Amino acid sequence: MGKVTKAILIKAACRARGRAVAPYSRFKVGAALLTTRGEIVTGANVESASFGLTCCAERVALFKALTEGKTDFEAIAVVARTRGGPRPCGACRQLLAEFAPGAVVWIADSQQPGKVTELTVAALLPAAFLKVGKNSG
Ligand code: THU
Repeated sequence: MGKVTKAILIKAACRARGRAVAPYSRFKVGAALLTTRGEIVTGANVESASFGLTCCAERVALFKALTEGKTDFEAIAVVARTRGGPRPCGACRQLLAEFAPGAVVWIADSQQPGKVTELTVAALLPAAFLKVGKNSG
C-alpha cells in the first residue's frame, strides 16, 4: 500500500462530504482520519431535527475509527465549502486532543482542495483537559 498523502486524505474527506446529512444548515462537512497503519476512516456531519443532537464530521470519523478498533492517528483532513476551509469546533478539538493528540490537521475549502492549511491538534487546543491524573499542567 502506498503512503497516504495530504492530497489523498483531502480527497477522501471531499468524497465523505458528499454523504453529509445536513438538511438544516446545508453546510456539508467531510472528514478523513489517517491511522498510523495507513488506513483512512471517513465521516461527515449528521444533523437532527432536534438541532442540538447534530454531530460534526470530525467526531463521526473519530467515533467510527475508535469503534473499529483504530486508536492511533497521524492526521485528519476536514473540508467544507467555505473560504480557507472549516475550523473544528470546541467539542471536536476536545475529542481530538484526547484521542488523536499527535495528529496533524489539514483543512481545505472543498472547492479548492489543493490549498490546504496545516494545523496541529495541540495548537487547536492548548492545555487540554485530559483523563483525570493525565494533565500536564
Ligand atoms: N460542522 C462540522 O461537521 N465540522 C466542523 O468543523 C464545523 C461544523 C457541522 C456541524 C453542523 O452540522 C454544520 O457544520 C453547521 O454548523
